[in-house]
Amino acid sequence: MKERKIFICKNCGAESPRWLGKCPSCDAWNSFEETTTKIVYAEKKQKDLSYISNNSIVKLSDISENIDYCIKTKIGELDRILGGGIIPGSLVLIGGDPGIGKSTLLLQMCSNISELNPLYVTAEESLQQIKYRSNRIKNVNTSLQLLAETNVETINSIILANDAKVVVIDSIQAVSSDRIDAAPGSISQVRESATLFMQTAKKTGKAFFLIGHITKDGSLAGPKILEHLVDTVIQFEGDKTYSYRILRSQKNRFGSTNEIGVFEMSEAGLVEVPNPSEIFLAGHSDNESGVAIVATIEGSRTIMLEVQALVTPTSYGMPQRSSNGFDMRRLQMILAVLEKRLNVHFSQNDVFVNIAGGVYLNDSSCDLGIAAALISSLKDIPINKKTVLVGEIGLTGEVRSVSSIEQRINESQKLGFENIIVPKSSKITKKFNIDISKVDKIANAIATIF
Ligand code: TYD
Ligand code: MG
Repeated sequence: MKERKIFICKNCGAESPRWLGKCPSCDAWNSFEETTTKIVYAEKKQKDLSYISNNSIVKLSDISENIDYCIKTKIGELDRILGGGIIPGSLVLIGGDPGIGKSTLLLQMCSNISELNPLYVTAEESLQQIKYRSNRIKNVNTSLQLLAETNVETINSIILANDAKVVVIDSIQAVSSDRIDAAPGSISQVRESATLFMQTAKKTGKAFFLIGHITKDGSLAGPKILEHLVDTVIQFEGDKTYSYRILRSQKNRFGSTNEIGVFEMSEAGLVEVPNPSEIFLAGHSDNESGVAIVATIEGSRTIMLEVQALVTPTSYGMPQRSSNGFDMRRLQMILAVLEKRLNVHFSQNDVFVNIAGGVYLNDSSCDLGIAAALISSLKDIPINKKTVLVGEIGLTGEVRSVSSIEQRINESQKLGFENIIVPKSSKITKKFNIDISKVDKIANAIATIF
């Protein structure tokens, strides 16, 4: 065993023999921290890679598929994110702010899959704390196997001897390996622990759920290293001040990465929200200016959201621009298009944009809604609350067509909206009972809305 001092980038895990101001591999500044590692080089060299191959060449057609092997967690929103359910031998990383509901969700999941004899390893909380949490959850499986342990090697040998088909590690930052002389949660510890669990997962076919913490800037701690290792990365989003939580898939080897799942944190654990539009529109205000309804697509679903804008005269010399849940640069672009093409001026005004419900809108089809909300607030004229706005805005002021237009119209109709404004070039073949107005230019759209 040899001891050596190395510097490791907190962001991507790159190693360097000396401290560097900027990481050459991920360009992060001031991210190197010193660690002393005692690495057993002899063991490291003989890395066990037998789970990947048996050192012989096989034909693609000879590999069996086992497609029907995903196991439903019976939490519909979670199943969808996972790509249908739990895949044996997979490694899922689930991240999110403290207190957002990671432990609760996985405890609920374990209760639903008692036939797989799940094992819940708690390295952060005591068994007593888990018991208190389980008292709040409905239909909890009282025969759930629990293990309070932080040593990775001990955990791994217990897992190997146990018949659990699903293992939850709460959390990957709280467990540590004897083989590395660094604090739990450090990059080298996280990497070592996750690698060991990955090998066990691939060798035994047990599925692992690793809970990971979020750093201050919102990314998973030790993100790059873990993202490479695991099959699926899912993240809890949303503001803890709201009662609902959004689960988003960031990487999935078995399914789409655009899916989101919506939950509400209730007094009895997390409850699925099968129709999120209803809660996002619940606080929809009557006849207020600066509010517009948009239809965004998240994965396979359409979600209706309220976008809000506030335009007020600037009280300081510099007009402020602030956006919550919408890309700032896209907002600046929309403002510039409105100034140039419609001759409305925001240069003497502060502009605030907010997407209701703590959602981050990453869909250019909401441009028209944002533009209309801005003008509505500036002129103090409310938009008809039964109108939905869909369309991307181009630099010349044209309203461009967007994907899945019929799906958006359908959802608007289902939720009782009376009219929808869509780009002129949209191809609509189905018959709808909602009034559809087609617009080609932003000027044209604004004239139709107001
Ligand atoms: P938790 O699952 O401990 O979060 P994490 O593991 O992500 O840190 O969630 C804890 C929060 O959820 C805590 O603030 C209490 C709240 N909560 C409820 O509101 N209802 C419940 O039934 C449970 C179990 C927790
Ligand atoms: Mg927890």
